[in-house]
Amino acid sequence: MSSAFVRRPVLVTGHRGYLGSVMAPLLVERGYDVVGLDVGYFDDCSIAADPLPIPSIDKDIRDLVPADLRAFYAVIHLAALSNDPIGNLDETWTEEINHRSSVRLAELAREADVRRFLFSSSCIMYGQSSAEIVDETSPLDPRTLYARSKVKSEETIRDLASDGFSPTFLRNGTVYGLSPRMRFDTVLNDLTGAALANQRVVVYGDGKPWRPVVHVRDVAAAFCRVLEAPLSLVHNEAFNTGADHLNHRVIELAEIAADLVPGCDLEVRGEPGADQRTYRASFEKFARAFPDFEFRWEAASGAAQLIEDYRRIGLDAGLYGDRRFVRLRWLNHLLESGRLDGSLRWEAGAAGGERQPEGKG
Ligand SMILES: NC(=O)c1ccc[n+]([C@@H]2O[C@H](COP(=O)([O-])OP(=O)(O)OC[C@H]3O[C@@H](n4cnc5c(N)ncnc54)[C@H](O)[C@@H]3O)[C@@H](O)[C@H]2O)c1
Repeated sequence: MSSAFVRRPVLVTGHRGYLGSVMAPLLVERGYDVVGLDVGYFDDCSIAADPLPIPSIDKDIRDLVPADLRAFYAVIHLAALSNDPIGNLDETWTEEINHRSSVRLAELAREADVRRFLFSSSCIMYGQSSAEIVDETSPLDPRTLYARSKVKSEETIRDLASDGFSPTFLRNGTVYGLSPRMRFDTVLNDLTGAALANQRVVVYGDGKPWRPVVHVRDVAAAFCRVLEAPLSLVHNEAFNTGADHLNHRVIELAEIAADLVPGCDLEVRGEPGADQRTYRASFEKFARAFPDFEFRWEAASGAAQLIEDYRRIGLDAGLYGDRRFVRLRWLNHLLESGRLDGSLRWEAGAAGGERQPEGKG
């Protein structure tokens, strides 16, 4: 990294989630002065220790004030209700947290002269595309509240771009790989977890839908790469974040997972009501913009690494089936146990986990 970037202050929202707890330490390693901002929904959901303490603003993104944004060079915005099923809990939460708060964060960042704004978006916004392969110019077909929240956020934040404010939209594929704040509700984490913990991989549909899968450490590195790119390359641009060879049919991923564990069964149920979301993404634009960037993990090598990581942390059926690692189940638990109230806010004294010292902001 060039010395021009050393110790630049970066705010990472959602830094205590699956992606953030890998990305924030990587940014520190690369010389950034990282401050996180997170409400801590998953603070009790660690599967492994955090590699580094990250100074943190413990705050709901719905409660931002201008002072939270002062003095940052860049914002990396990960905080969100992070998948489709959570949108079904209560429509207003996904709208408020994922859409309105993202826009307000971008507005405050722009007012505070934050130079760059990296928005963690998703290829899911292409929906069940009829196009053979979707690229950044393809029509969007968001089928869920979650996907719509990403589309609406991108659209509104795009209008905020100016000479002094450069948003970039990183449309990730489905992320996998070990993170301290693990999720088993993403496809390859789930399939490999089932293979090792249950010696049984079940595909509920016919396995034909396509998914681009990208390793969490590659996603973290790709965000760093975009953060360091010349502004002319990334100003107000959307990028599918991944590589063409990372598009797989679900059945291929299931076979990869099952083959890694001796004696593992693979069952394809072909249930008609199963998840048929499908999209095959083109990652050409990313490759053209960053020809030197390498996605280091392929599905097969990444899954093999993941199985190794699972063995190291002692993954068994209990841990794999634990509600702490399925976002919807954990949020439901916090709601049912009265720790979160009906607007998804902590009841007094109910927040979990170990808090790091307050950072700037
Ligand atoms: N994991 C994937 O496969 C994937 C794929 C595409 C896009 N994304 C996007 O990347 C981002 C990170 O995903 P993830 O997998 O790390 O999700 P995650 O659920 O593990 O982490 C999200 C983090 O945001 C925080 N958060 C949620 N609501 C908040 C609020 N109101 N105020 C403050 N903090 C709040 C949570 O506490 C959590 O730490 C999300 O925007 C997600 O939509 C993820």
